[in-house]
Amino acid sequence: MAVLPIVLYNDPVLRQKAEPVKTDSKELQVFIDDLFETMYEASGVGLAAPQVGRSLRVFVVDADVMVEDTDEQAYGPMAFINPEIHSKDNQQIIIEEGCLSLPELRENIARPDEITVKFLDRDFREQHMTFTGWMSRVFQHELDHLDGVLFFDYLGSFKKRLIARRLQLIDEGAVETEYPVRERNPQS
Ligand code: NI
Repeated sequence: MAVLPIVLYNDPVLRQKAEPVKTDSKELQVFIDDLFETMYEASGVGLAAPQVGRSLRVFVVDADVMVEDTDEQAYGPMAFINPEIHSKDNQQIIIEEGCLSLPELRENIARPDEITVKFLDRDFREQHMTFTGWMSRVFQHELDHLDGVLFFDYLGSFKKRLIARRLQLIDEGAVETEYPVRERNPQS
């Protein structure tokens, strides 16, 4: 297993639509282990493949730390391959989100609470599940990463202006992180 450097905004890989996983392989399994190790090293609760520079439809989640003192179900570590949302609540709830690719940026974001999802688990078995609360929230945030969407995209134009400076600092690499980040190619 290895801790992989995390890609920060505004690396183009974060804006790409990721490719579906076609087959299982030893390499894929090692990659999923690396995603988990990288997520835990960075104290994250979710991490998507594009955030380590791979444009692939895979993410990992372990939101147990968020649900410790709640009545929400603890799912433990879960890997999601080719995940999809089947249906979602009409009602939205507001939760503050952050992202390992956007250090120190946290904003209140409205999203549906209950979602019904379909995905392959890491044994390539098709799973259908219904999530609410933190698991739902992290799933939606990570699925967005596979479609090139970042959480601040949901903010209104006023809020976007307020965070523009912070985004610029992240883009320039002028931020401190407690986890390894990918060096920016000076040409890009
Ligand atoms: Ni994120």
